[in-house]
Amino acid sequence: MILPVQKNPEYLPSYLMHIQQLQQEFTRFFNKPATKTYFCPGRVNLIGEHIDYNGGLVMPVAIDLGTYLFIAPNDDNVLRFRSLNFDEILDIPLVNHFEKTDNNWFNYPLGVIHHFEKNGNQISGLDIMFYGNLPVSSGLSSSASIEVATAFALNDIFKGGYTLLDLVKLTKMVENTFIGVNSGIMDQFAVAFGQQGKAMVLNCETLAYDQVPVELGEYLLVIINTNKPRNLAESMYNVRVQECHIALDALRKELFINNLCDIDAETLYKHKHLITDETIWKRAQHIVEENDRVKLAAKLLNDGDLVGFGQLMYASHYSLKDLYEVSGKELDAIAGFGKDYQGVIGSRMTGAGFGGCAIALVEKSRFAAYRKDLIKFYTKEIGYAPGIYETQISNGVGPLVLND
Ligand code: GLA
Repeated sequence: MILPVQKNPEYLPSYLMHIQQLQQEFTRFFNKPATKTYFCPGRVNLIGEHIDYNGGLVMPVAIDLGTYLFIAPNDDNVLRFRSLNFDEILDIPLVNHFEKTDNNWFNYPLGVIHHFEKNGNQISGLDIMFYGNLPVSSGLSSSASIEVATAFALNDIFKGGYTLLDLVKLTKMVENTFIGVNSGIMDQFAVAFGQQGKAMVLNCETLAYDQVPVELGEYLLVIINTNKPRNLAESMYNVRVQECHIALDALRKELFINNLCDIDAETLYKHKHLITDETIWKRAQHIVEENDRVKLAAKLLNDGDLVGFGQLMYASHYSLKDLYEVSGKELDAIAGFGKDYQGVIGSRMTGAGFGGCAIALVEKSRFAAYRKDLIKFYTKEIGYAPGIYETQISNGVGPLVLND
């Protein structure tokens, strides 16, 4: 059963109704109410793509869609996982070592519990229900959202004493070792540290970050889901990580650097002779130029220049398309449509690519027309419709307050 998407968290009556519906579902599963409730958002990255595993700057925001986690301890020494989005359930005795099974959704919370216990924390049996209103497999970080929600809940209930940053590192470890994807730290960081109305400029090497205001004014931040199955995403992602390592090794013959993002574009061009393979050169060029773009983007946002920022979104998209080659005809159709559409000042793919989602900055008064015209255009080009959502830049993970 899929509950209605929570459109506006500030609109209290529907917000509370939504949460109370979830409490009823929990009681239906476990014959008792949840004792604690949490919410962790998803994210979109405004700019700085495929940068996090190259030690550079990214600019993600947390969004108003995400994962609701309802939980109550049990005396049976059992973990029971339920989801309102997936049919698979898990009932498993609580031990101190777990392993991933197939590609089930519950590997994410199970991996978090595995690592939480591995760090010496004691937990009791738990009944947990998840509900997510992020479109599944759409590149909006539903996995980071479920991981960080679980880690936050465990830390709160069992007094693990972790800081938010510790939880981000723990959940990245889950993704890399338990799930087996070599992703960077951006997603977990964004869904944990997000701030309403702000984008974070995160240095993925030092983990220092600034929050910059995103003054949208007359514009909306819009998410466009390609609705394309992302079969290639994981394997091609790992290939790109490898290609960046090759570029870095080549440059280190003359440069003392730890990451591709330790240099700017000018320095890269001066050392072009070190990278002889054309594909590897294109990958390096995207990474270094994209990192420079994030620096400029942060300045433009701080100056309130949203139009200038939108231009950088297009530059980022075409670099991901032509140099990094992680886009695809679906994402290109969306960004290309935005470029020629009156009232759209920026559009680009977001996240890993190969499908997933794009974003756009759309004038409020043009949103209804944009939506209608893009659906028509995309359906004609691609053969099926995209999903289009207006989104709010929101806060990171936290407890949900349940009023009786
Ligand atoms: C995925 C990964 C992130 C990041 C993006 C690309 O979302 O999980 O770590 O690398 O792709 O920017």
